[in-house]
Amino acid sequence: MKNLIDIMQLSVEELDELIATAMDIIADPAKYSQVCRGKKLATLFFEPSTRTRLSFEAAMYELGGNVLGFSEAQSSSAAKGESVADTIKVVSCYADIIAMRHPKEGAPLVAANNADVPIVNAGDGGHNHPTQTLADLLTIYREKGGFEDLTIGLCGDLKFGRTVHSLMSAMSRYKGVKFVLISPEELRLPDYVVDDVLKGRNIPYEECTSLEDAMPKLDILYMTRVQKERFFNEADYMRLKDSYILTPEKLRTAKETLSILHPLPRVNEISVAVDDDPRACYFRQALNGKYMRMALIMKLLEVKPW
Ligand code: CP
Repeated sequence: MKNLIDIMQLSVEELDELIATAMDIIADPAKYSQVCRGKKLATLFFEPSTRTRLSFEAAMYELGGNVLGFSEAQSSSAAKGESVADTIKVVSCYADIIAMRHPKEGAPLVAANNADVPIVNAGDGGHNHPTQTLADLLTIYREKGGFEDLTIGLCGDLKFGRTVHSLMSAMSRYKGVKFVLISPEELRLPDYVVDDVLKGRNIPYEECTSLEDAMPKLDILYMTRVQKERFFNEADYMRLKDSYILTPEKLRTAKETLSILHPLPRVNEISVAVDDDPRACYFRQALNGKYMRMALIMKLLEVKPW
């Protein structure tokens, strides 16, 4: 595999390998501290980011490599009208691997078709976010011990939330997984995801609008932010933005073993009063993202610690 554009490019066996590498990095980080010495990662972020960009950069530094790039389109020659294809051909001359975020769906695929080095999709519009899914999977693995027989509630903006689309695709391959889709009518999961992932793979699912009704049956609750940047008008965003706010009161009927995930950033959808609940995994999830990105960089650059 040369690029990671869509999480489904990774087989279950390859995901297992990445998780095993990440677990070994956690156990013995010194073993990996020089594996990317002399290598450079370019982070090309045409959209804002905290976790994805900085965890990619931290990952490369912790592997002994170096980092270059930009954090907004306005500080690159995209602001002068340069195409993604030209940008990538040029950056391929300077870096060994590129992580790219772009507001247009499909832009990382265009990049991959024009690159001489591996391209990682770090989020493309409302489409996919495969490395967030790697963070989510390591979190589920560490919190639950595996991926089978889980009822997963996905709550919030299921229409524009690209992390939801990638996670559902990945989890749909495990036995006994069920989804509960909790959203306002206007932010329901797009039909193409329902058809391809759920109906296409015969995965049990239900749709509802009430987080309270869904809560008691969930093993995992994946909260999401309403994606303001994807709305066409402010009034719709204002009306929908606080559709779901997770509070300690709403968790009263939840399982003791529930794991609460959120790709972050959060706005209002999880009260800070939930942060001290041991079931709140979202900051551990952000850390797991760094370990999985370390494992992915090593895989794409074909480097090993021995
Ligand atoms: N989860 C995530 O993609 O966060 P950032 O937008 O901060 O990268």
